[in-house]
Amino acid sequence: MADEISRDENINFRTRKWVRPEDLNANGTLFGGSLLRWIDEEAAIYAIIQLGNNRAVTKYMSEIEFVSSAEQGDLIEMGLKATHFGRTSMTMRAEVRNMITRQRILAIERIVFVSLDENGKPTPHGYDCITYDRDRIPTELQRD
Ligand SMILES: CC(C)(COP(=O)(O)OP(=O)(O)OC[C@H]1O[C@@H](n2cnc3c(N)ncnc32)[C@H](O)[C@@H]1OP(=O)(O)O)[C@@H](O)C(=O)NCCC(=O)NCCS
Repeated sequence: MADEISRDENINFRTRKWVRPEDLNANGTLFGGSLLRWIDEEAAIYAIIQLGNNRAVTKYMSEIEFVSSAEQGDLIEMGLKATHFGRTSMTMRAEVRNMITRQRILAIERIVFVSLDENGKPTPHGYDCITYDRDRIPTELQRD
């Protein structure tokens, strides 16, 4: 539904983007590839923080629905929420909406990230719930 309003209070819409000319397609609206790049980066950061591992890679994305478009100058925001912690993987849900109108732009039900070891093999992460703190920051990212 193109006029769907996002009222999902379970998702924190942390990252905001300003739609610029270089993000547009030939139709003059937001290019899907730009949006997917932003989402994948946002999901990678979320997975690193949740899994406590820098080596977290995208394994799977479910159906992606571009619900409505955005135009140059629009302010949009992206939200993610972990929905499942497996042994080596975690699954999240993603949503993008217009920051002002809250009209939904994109929804992805399942994005799966896998935690890898130094040999690129899946490794158990040991977590089963979301952290809202910075207690799992990988040591490689910590500075004295
Ligand atoms: C990530 C990778 C090492 C996983 O290898 P694999 O042989 O599938 O590993 P496993 O079968 O042990 O599965 C690992 C986890 O992924 C999950 N998984 C595997 N295939 C999946 C799929 N199609 N959909 C959802 N989850 C899947 C498994 O359930 C498992 O999770 P769990 O341990 O929490 O139960 C390998 O697929 C890979 O290197 N892929 C490329 C990743 C990448 O480079 N991404 C960046 C974009 S190119």
